[in-house]
Amino acid sequence: MLIMAVRSAIYSQSIKREEKPGVWNVPHISDVYLIQGSLLRQGLTAKQNEVNVQIKTDSSDEKQRRNYYPSFVLTENPSLDSDMAFSQSLRDNGVFLFLTNLFEFGHLVNSESFVTHHKHNDLYEIYSNQMDWEKRYIHENYSKNLDTDTVIEQPCPDVHWFPVVSETFCKHIIEELENFGKWSDGSNSDPRLAGGYENVPTRDIHMNQVGFEQQWLYFLREYIRPVQEKIYTGYFHDPPRSLMNFVVRYHPNEQPSLRPHHDSSTYTINIALNRPKIDYEGGGCRFIRYNCSVIDLRVGWSLIHPGRLTHYHEGLPVTKGVRYIFISFVDP
Ligand SMILES: *[C@@H]1O[C@H](CO)[C@@H](O)[C@H](O)[C@H]1NC(C)=O
Ligand SMILES: *[C@@H]1O[C@H](CO)[C@@H](O)[C@H](O)[C@H]1NC(C)=O
Repeated sequence: MLIMAVRSAIYSQSIKREEKPGVWNVPHISDVYLIQGSLLRQGLTAKQNEVNVQIKTDSSDEKQRRNYYPSFVLTENPSLDSDMAFSQSLRDNGVFLFLTNLFEFGHLVNSESFVTHHKHNDLYEIYSNQMDWEKRYIHENYSKNLDTDTVIEQPCPDVHWFPVVSETFCKHIIEELENFGKWSDGSNSDPRLAGGYENVPTRDIHMNQVGFEQQWLYFLREYIRPVQEKIYTGYFHDPPRSLMNFVVRYHPNEQPSLRPHHDSSTYTINIALNRPKIDYEGGGCRFIRYNCSVIDLRVGWSLIHPGRLTHYHEGLPVTKGVRYIFISFVDP
């Protein structure tokens, strides 16, 4: 069995399975991941890592060629990378290279930028391995939010509510932050801020403290922005900006609640990371102008609401256990 992948952007555009299923004759294949040994064994004379693959073309051996079992001769060619040499040799010998996306064999994980010093390294793979990241960390019903016939829930006036991240995401981000452990002290003095002063302090950890800021901004752009555009018709801001991306920890003995305040945002994202009535009691968000509270929060669901003027709000007291929420002040 021969499995090959094409690296060129031009080709990768045409291989998106859902767009254009088919079989293509291509000039170059960049990687060979698995080759049945019997194909190569005969006449294999590999000398260095960089090898040139040539096909012994022997017209008297037509039968073997028709059976598509050419014998390979590997010789050195320092002027070409092995993939170029391989493709060129095949072309020069009249062997066509084909690519098909009619079958799904799986995919490769991009390990080039993988780091291992976090508790949950996979959380950080949002750009390099987005497909796997989505599967693990995006809520299974996320895409329904974007269906034209889905009406996004609105528990309070202009406060919407939608599923966005998986339970695994919530568990992993909590564990990542508890492992890091440097929760702020909840006082007004905050050296992490430009002015050193926080008017409405919480016990929290900012994403830039755990190296997750860029990943989170990418998340906002990829997964929050499309829902925002659906909810607030006519407001476009791409990419969304956010200087404040943080997880708040509410605890009866530390900080159980948060006094009424506005956010420094155009809109705020507030994702519930754990379960009311199980992991904690009390809690919730109350919008004072409407005397409306969202209390039965759902894990992995985000609230989205305007930050200023109309949505003056408070964090309701947690009476038992620990409550975690993930907050972003988008477009400050
Ligand atoms: C997704 O939606 C289906 C249908 O409403 C529901 O049964 C399922 O529990 C939802 N998945 C999650 C993880 O909430
Ligand atoms: C606000 O709502 C609560 C509970 O829904 C209700 O008991 C209270 O009377 C309301 N307050 C005002 C000022 O309407």
